[in-house]
Amino acid sequence: MSKFATTSRRGVLRAGLAAGALLPAASLSARAQGGPDPLITQVQDWARYTGAGVDETPYGLPIRFESGVIRRNVPWLTADPISSINFTPIHALDGTITPAGCAFERHHSGAIELAKPDYRLMINGLVDSPLVFTYADLERFPRHSGVYFCECAANSGMEWAGAQLNGSQFTHGMIHNMEYVGVPLKTLLAEAGIRPEGKWLYVEGADASSNGRSIPLEKALDDCMVAFKANGEALRMEHGYPARLVVPGWEGNLWIKWLRRIEVTSGPVESREETSKYTDTLDNGISRKWTWVMDAKSVITAPSPQVPVRHGKGPLVITGLAWSGRGAITRVDVSTDGGRNWRTARLAAPGQRMAVTRFWLDYHWDGEEMLLQSRAMDETGYVQPTKDALRQIRGENSVYHNNGIQTWWVRKDGSAENVEIS
Ligand code: MTE
Ligand code: CO
Repeated sequence: MSKFATTSRRGVLRAGLAAGALLPAASLSARAQGGPDPLITQVQDWARYTGAGVDETPYGLPIRFESGVIRRNVPWLTADPISSINFTPIHALDGTITPAGCAFERHHSGAIELAKPDYRLMINGLVDSPLVFTYADLERFPRHSGVYFCECAANSGMEWAGAQLNGSQFTHGMIHNMEYVGVPLKTLLAEAGIRPEGKWLYVEGADASSNGRSIPLEKALDDCMVAFKANGEALRMEHGYPARLVVPGWEGNLWIKWLRRIEVTSGPVESREETSKYTDTLDNGISRKWTWVMDAKSVITAPSPQVPVRHGKGPLVITGLAWSGRGAITRVDVSTDGGRNWRTARLAAPGQRMAVTRFWLDYHWDGEEMLLQSRAMDETGYVQPTKDALRQIRGENSVYHNNGIQTWWVRKDGSAENVEIS
């Protein structure tokens, strides 16, 4: 039976009211298009018939008209999808929370399916009592919640040698921002009891890569969390179900997914992920290690190459995201002329530490070309650098921690392209 089989009196009534309320707009639209607008003057099927029943979508996906708002990858970037990355469609989102279903994924050996009954978390090493927790054990500790961004250190890594990828999803989409619930790491460590010689942790996941990383104890005891919920629901498999480490403000590689073991050590392990990877090779060929914090960064998400301006001159909302691993974003400036002049944008909700901040600039576009840039500042006074300034310190051999100012060239026809100006 068709879901539109019956008419409802409420539907017809609603249509009548809506048509009446919209009359002034209808006459405007008739003037613009040279004829009456049937969307205004005629009762539409969605008002004539009843809609989908409540049981048809027990767990919903976005409406089909939004089917393009999805994670995407860049096929040439990695050799195999098992050790790869895809990108959050930040160009199409607004607000700050990333829906889990389109939050980027980064795996070194694929996403694993680990059921709660099979989950174990071991704490060993320099502790008074080595412990193994089950998932049910974790749920009995006092909980903590917080909204934090997770940015892969390689975000914008393809842009070191010049403008590469055409879209904020691809240049800046290795980031997500979710509300986590879990147990503070310090609570679990206190349960095991850290010996005085214990100064570092070595944390690893249950997947084949293990993604083992060393974390200084100071950070672990400060704000790290073993999270099991994101945006209210269980973590998605690809984000570390049933439990992952949350390391606020620090590079995504430390956010161990499918967390299985925490070893308290006297020094760092210097694992693969912190020597041959996730170090920053400088101009002189020497690699800098322990670049944990993600410095302040921002990007205009619209207009941008995937979001051209579709209207002529007049009101234009310029919007984007800013974040800092050192605390809250205090200000974002926007330039439409490649950094010569700056206007301060509105922050949707200032003061969110180690979380993504949304900014809007309510602009009047004169229809001329623009070189759009955004520049973030954080509570420590740090100002996001230009790409040139960054290259002077870092050279061009780097991959990670590229937080330089992004430029979009918006043409008169509203199309936009990734460019660099010097
Ligand atoms: N943890 C495990 N166990 N295995 C991994 O491959 N990838 C790391 C980190 N934690 C990884 C991991 C990297 S490089 C990043 S950027 C983040 O997880 C990505 O988290 P996400 O997939 O939830 O976006
Ligand atoms: Co990463």
